[in-house]
Amino acid sequence: MIVDAVIACTVPQFPLQDSSMVPTVEWKDGAVRLLDQSQLPGKVVFLDCRDYLTVARAIKELVVRGAPAIGVTAAMGVAIGSQSIKTTSYDDFVNAVHDICDCLVATRPTAVNLCWAIERMKRRLSALRELPVADIKRLLVEESQRILDEDIALCKAIGQHGATLIASGHTVLTHCNAGALATAGYGTALGVIRAAWAQGKAIQVIADETRPVLQGARLTAWELMQDKIPVTLITDNMAGTLMRQGKIQLCIVGADRIAANGDVANKIGTYSVAVLAKAHGLPFYVAAPYSTIDLKTPTGADIPIEERNPLEVTTLHGSHAIAPAGVAVYNPAFDVTPAALITGIITERGVFRPQDLAAHFA
Ligand code: MRU
Repeated sequence: MIVDAVIACTVPQFPLQDSSMVPTVEWKDGAVRLLDQSQLPGKVVFLDCRDYLTVARAIKELVVRGAPAIGVTAAMGVAIGSQSIKTTSYDDFVNAVHDICDCLVATRPTAVNLCWAIERMKRRLSALRELPVADIKRLLVEESQRILDEDIALCKAIGQHGATLIASGHTVLTHCNAGALATAGYGTALGVIRAAWAQGKAIQVIADETRPVLQGARLTAWELMQDKIPVTLITDNMAGTLMRQGKIQLCIVGADRIAANGDVANKIGTYSVAVLAKAHGLPFYVAAPYSTIDLKTPTGADIPIEERNPLEVTTLHGSHAIAPAGVAVYNPAFDVTPAALITGIITERGVFRPQDLAAHFA
């Protein structure tokens, strides 16, 4: 039940169980080490990025994906790129770092966490202007590590707040992957599920497969199975039937950008789930940290939506054709769910009605 602007903001006292996941992104031996999500669930392999161009390509090609994970990776991309700039002049150094930032920020347009993390690195760079360049390089690495550590803490706080919305016996539908894989660890929507599970609630998860890139099938199902959280995989067009059959009690998804009016951009298909939830009288929640809230973007209509390669739609894994050659394809990677369809937004500060979010994060 909605109480004033805040739906739930008491922080329950219980030990948080960490996910058993391998790190999505980490600074390791002078490289940005990424778990290569494009190879999951078949192979668990890592990509060590030793320069910022490799980081940029990894973001673009979905080696790392999910809004918070992209932000953390981009910050580490700035840090790794800055290490090989050969100058002792602060001004020359700043210009070179800004070029790196421009390259990284252009990789994916919808997830605002990317710009947020880059802006934070730029602010740190500016604050360090009195120091020798060698010291600044070290402190940029530290700042990117701080962004990573904070992201995990934010996810855990989101998990605590969101878990109060889930009762034992509930089945939760989620779309795409908003888990440990999509963040520095623990997850947003899946963080809520993890926290409820850690409290001993007997819950089940329904994972939409999430066409065309199959983040639900490849990543969410894999991630939940790693933690032994009960999960059932469905194709995207099955959600309505399960809702009608009374097999789902609530929906929780992540977000790539939340506009000032509470409209939410998330993985394509999220809007359809929200419409179905409304039609069946089910609560529809979005879980996201403050770094996903973009008060400079007034409404969902102002959010840039990435369009991706048609091969994602016409082939499986870019090779096996599942459509006639030359067919026209439209492949937006995200859609916008209007605030009116969202029951609440679960943040690290509590759960808010979408229309009240701006006042709390101004
Ligand atoms: O294209 P992707 O895989 O980066 O899309 C990811 C999503 O849409 C997630 O739901 C969103 O980034 C939230 S992740 C906590």
